[in-house]
Amino acid sequence: MVKILAINGSYRDNGITDQAVDAMARTAKAAGADVEVVLLRELAIDFCRNCRACSQEPGDVPSECFLADGMGELVQKIEAADAYILASPTNFGAITAIFKRFLERLICYGYWPWGTHIPKFRKVNAPKKKAVLVSSCAAPGIMGRWMYGTRSQLKTTAKTIGAKAVGTLFVGLIAKEADVRLSDRVERKAEALVAKLV
Ligand SMILES: Cc1cc2nc3c(=O)[nH]c(=O)nc-3n(C[C@H](O)[C@H](O)[C@H](O)COP(=O)(O)O)c2cc1C
Repeated sequence: MVKILAINGSYRDNGITDQAVDAMARTAKAAGADVEVVLLRELAIDFCRNCRACSQEPGDVPSECFLADGMGELVQKIEAADAYILASPTNFGAITAIFKRFLERLICYGYWPWGTHIPKFRKVNAPKKKAVLVSSCAAPGIMGRWMYGTRSQLKTTAKTIGAKAVGTLFVGLIAKEADVRLSDRVERKAEALVAKLV
């Protein structure tokens, strides 16, 4: 059974990002996958301290951070999963602050001992898992996809944890109403993307 982990950086209960992720999760479950959705807004994750203690030892598995918070368990879930849904609304042209805070903590996936300028990513030679990237924005979806940093940041997240982005869903024009609903067309798109993961 394929294990899919969705990591969602939206702030809003049942906003468009939640709805898109939920549509994907439902479809994946119906196809027989084991799906878990992690809402970053419900998880206590502290800021990275840039101490690089987690990056000093070589190896292809992430090292533990000294901060005792929700990240340790989340990293275990990332390691156990076969595929990912990585989702964040676009705020000020980028992933949300809570998604960025999570991404910075993924430095535990880097081997970066003192004396070296840049990290080597531990999963660089690992067989690639698959990831689908999801975002939402006020701008039209096509603009959001290409104009903003969100897609590239979600892609970096996928790469860091050893995954290859196999599809992107950018849900645009969603900021006019307070209570926006995912259109049938976008829901079909979200469902179709799941086929790339299961
Ligand atoms: C602080 C803030 C910044 C935003 N910045 C942008 C932006 O730069 N470009 C854009 O198209 N939409 C922007 N938006 C609209 C959000 O992308 C939109 O509210 C979000 O996708 C809603 O996601 P949700 O339904 O999951 O809460 C912004 C919204 C907020 C509140």
